[in-house]
Amino acid sequence: MGKSKPTTLLRLVSTVAGFVFAIHLIILYSRNYSVDNLEVSSQSLLLHHHPLVHELERVEQENIHMPPPRKRSPRAIKRKPKRPTTTLVQEFLDENSQIRHLFFPDIKSSFGPTKDGGGNDTSLHHFFPGKIWLDTEGNPIQAHGGGILYDERSKSYYWYGEYKDGVTYHSHKKGAARVDIIGVGCYSSRDLWTWKNEGVVLAAEELDETHDLHKLNVLERPKVIYNSDTGKYVMWMHIDDANYTKASVGVAISDNPTGPFDYLYSKSPHGFDSRDMTVFKDDDNTAYLVYSSEDNSVVHVGPLTEDYLGVKPVMKRIMVGQHREAPAVFKHQNTYYMITSGCTGWAPNEALAHAAESMMGPWETLGNPCVGGNKIFRSTTFLAQGTYVVPLPGVPGGFIFMADRWNPADLRDSRYLWLPLIVGGTADRPLESSFGFPVWSRVSVYWHRQWRLPWGGEKEIA
Ligand code: GAL
Repeated sequence: MGKSKPTTLLRLVSTVAGFVFAIHLIILYSRNYSVDNLEVSSQSLLLHHHPLVHELERVEQENIHMPPPRKRSPRAIKRKPKRPTTTLVQEFLDENSQIRHLFFPDIKSSFGPTKDGGGNDTSLHHFFPGKIWLDTEGNPIQAHGGGILYDERSKSYYWYGEYKDGVTYHSHKKGAARVDIIGVGCYSSRDLWTWKNEGVVLAAEELDETHDLHKLNVLERPKVIYNSDTGKYVMWMHIDDANYTKASVGVAISDNPTGPFDYLYSKSPHGFDSRDMTVFKDDDNTAYLVYSSEDNSVVHVGPLTEDYLGVKPVMKRIMVGQHREAPAVFKHQNTYYMITSGCTGWAPNEALAHAAESMMGPWETLGNPCVGGNKIFRSTTFLAQGTYVVPLPGVPGGFIFMADRWNPADLRDSRYLWLPLIVGGTADRPLESSFGFPVWSRVSVYWHRQWRLPWGGEKEIA
């Protein structure tokens, strides 16, 4: 009799624990293995065992040796007897830094279909984040702040971005470094590595000073989505004046992915200012505009009209007061994810990953997705800023994180960092929990000096 009470208690506790565990499994199961995804998920299990997919998640360290301190003049020593310590970010931003070649390796180490990036076989299609990336004609790719469209009709990928191949200057003393608008560059590919220049598909206006695209204005972060109802390719972009006070979105359309695009107009979406932005097309064809607003302090999200040419009068304010920009949205197994940066102009800062059950929120912040490199790399998005996330076909939970390593001293020489992004495992900071278990998966962007897609150069994926 004396022993029966603790046994009953033990049974009760283990039943409750078992119940909670079962609920947790059901939640995980319904998230990861919903009926729609069953086929894809079992495929994914197989793919995740593929050694080359495994390779994407290898944690790679990066040791950068700071240069020896520079000689200081006696006057400088008198003014500041203690030598100010230089940080890696200061070295990165200093155009005369002795280790600048580490951040911006020169043309000799470029890579692409015509060059190997450092003694490698070009047929293996390695990406070298930060090195100059050449197109099929051997010219550096000009598609900054870009985005990718996969076109079912031509079974090709199109990379659109800022064509910045002009002189960098400051329009006034305190203004950000800039390049006059040349237009939106477009490149096509069937394997995401070999890019053919399709030309400037939306060009600057040379003469009409009142035109949004007049070369002295700003055109940034163009993104293109296809509307299957109207058969139009619709481009959304950040339109501004040189002082970033117009803060609008622009819209252009074309019948072909390679343009030419006709510029329609600029807007203040929902009556608000809009700077860094992106568009995201969901599986049900609903498209959304996501933009930094209220002087970059709040992100706004709202659905586009059915023709994708405007916004519906519905909008949610998210990440309120968090000062986030450079949004890049992607979806995995019915969860929406977003990577954003902080607001420090061309200077790099820490990325954050966010997740939501619906595009309209609520959005929760998961934490910094960057893995590997070193502490400074992780706190500066590997000295870059995100712009887009591309799903990897055949690798559910596998994506490419596209980022720009801006070079404010010479913007045309800004570099691309494409790195593997994997959704899986549990998040670092679960803000929400169910029965004490974190709800969200972890989003990880892995640093690699050199990497390739699981199928490498072995086949075209499109
Ligand atoms: C960044 C922004 C870029 C560009 C830059 C200008 O904050 O993400 O797209 O606008 O500022 O300084």
